[in-house]
Order: sequence, then C-alpha cells, then structure tokens
Amino acid sequence: MIFDVVTIFPDFFSSILEYGVLQRARAGGQAKFRLHDLRDFTDDRHRTVDDRPFGGGPGMVFKPEPLFRAVEALKPEPGGADSPVVLLSPQGRLLTQSVAEEFARKERVVLLCGRYEGVDERVAQHLATEELSIGDYVLTGGELAAAVVMEAVTRLLPGVLGNEESREQDSFAGAGSVAAGSASGGAGGILDCPHYTRPAEFRGWKVPEVLLSGDHEEIRRWRRRRALEKTWRRRPDLLASLPLGQEDGKLLEEIRQAALELAGRRD
Ligand code: ADE
Repeated sequence: MIFDVVTIFPDFFSSILEYGVLQRARAGGQAKFRLHDLRDFTDDRHRTVDDRPFGGGPGMVFKPEPLFRAVEALKPEPGGADSPVVLLSPQGRLLTQSVAEEFARKERVVLLCGRYEGVDERVAQHLATEELSIGDYVLTGGELAAAVVMEAVTRLLPGVLGNEESREQDSFAGAGSVAAGSASGGAGGILDCPHYTRPAEFRGWKVPEVLLSGDHEEIRRWRRRRALEKTWRRRPDLLASLPLGQEDGKLLEEIRQAALELAGRRD
C-alpha cells in the first residue's frame, strides 16, 4: 500500500516513520510512505501556500493552486475507488476502526494535511474525494491526524503485525463487518479486556486468580465478561450496535445483576 502525504512539514514525519509499525511496514515492503512538500508546488519566490480569507476574519487559508498541483503531479493519477484523496479536517467523516479497515483495502491513499485556519473550500469540493476527522477537537494542522490514520491503517495490512491474532483481539476489531454501511461509521466492536503480566502480585495488587489457573475455557469466558463489563460501563453506545450472541447476553445479565447487588449492598 502507498501513502502519499502532502504537507508543509515533511520533516515532521521522519521520526514516526523510523519507529514501530510504520518502520516495520516500510522494512517489510507492506507499505510505502511518500512525502510531498506543498511548497514545491508554489510559484512565487516566497513559496507562499496561504492567503487572507475572502470576506475578512482572522487567520490564513491554504490556497487551492499548490494543493491541486501537488495532487495532479502524483503518478498514477489518484482519485479512483482504489486511491482516495483524503483531506484531514475536523469537518470530516469520523475515523473509526471500520474506516481504518476500509482504507487498509485500498492500493493507495493520498493524505492532504491542512494548516492554519482552513483550506480553500474548492479543495474539499473538487480535489479531495473525502474529508476525514480523527475526533471532535481541533488540531492546528493535519499532520498529527495523518500520522494517526497511517498508523491505524498500516497495522491492519497483512503481515505487518507479527501476531495476526492480536489484531483480531483489538478493541473494536470486527467493527468493519458489524458497522459496514452504518451511517455513523461507528465501531461495532467492544472494548478490550484487562491484561496482566508478571509479577503475579505487585505492591499487594494481585492478578486475577483465573488467569493463573491454566483453564483456557474459563480464561476465555472471564476475558469476554470483563470486556463486556468495561464496555457496558464506559461505552454503552457500542453495545447498542453489537449483535449479541447467547453467551454475551448471559454474561451481560450476570454483569447487570452483580452491579445491582453491589449497589444494593451500598445502600
Ligand atoms: N485538522 C485539524 N483538526 C483535525 C481533526 N480533528 N481531524 C483531522 N484533521 C484535523
């Protein structure tokens, strides 16, 4: 898979491409990251990428010409179904695990990093195939957002994570199949269960006995129950979109019952 990143800060990406999953995918040939300096597509002495907003107001707006030129210089030409042109912006579709899974199936993704107060709307309308937001908060630029997208997508590419199972056990994994086509694009998976490693006792805090028991069926059930419980407490919205199997229904009933009893004892 190829990521073409258009940015005024190409050096911003040099360290993140040297570590973790992005470095592994580069070394293993599963992903290629190409950085394009937006200023190389300007046509004035000062390499100007922004200008004052029509109608007045604070801040500067990215001019359309350099972004159009940068994308039009990419080979092969992007914009088809297999090579979306994504403008990172807080106005975009929200990034979820199912969106990451969708991008992981593409041949190439072009990421346009905006800056300052905004980007000329003609970029969103006539150049980008979509706008994507990584969350309901405002960043000063799209670079961190692009890095988040690259990381979330790259780790899904076959062969990148050594252990394919750990990918399947992620919080939200399986979201694609559940949430595909849902209007919100929201995750359909649940939160992860707690994890422990040695020592079995640390400062008096003990690892749950069941994890030391060697009983794989009991451990599987305990993990599912704890994952459901965490989701029920912290993100009940996720449970609403989950088709619950028989075991999950039973576990949730146990969780509700236990919570009621605890509340009763507190009264
Ligand atoms: N640029 C600024 N804020 C952003 C956000 N929340 N997501 C993606 N790009 C952004």
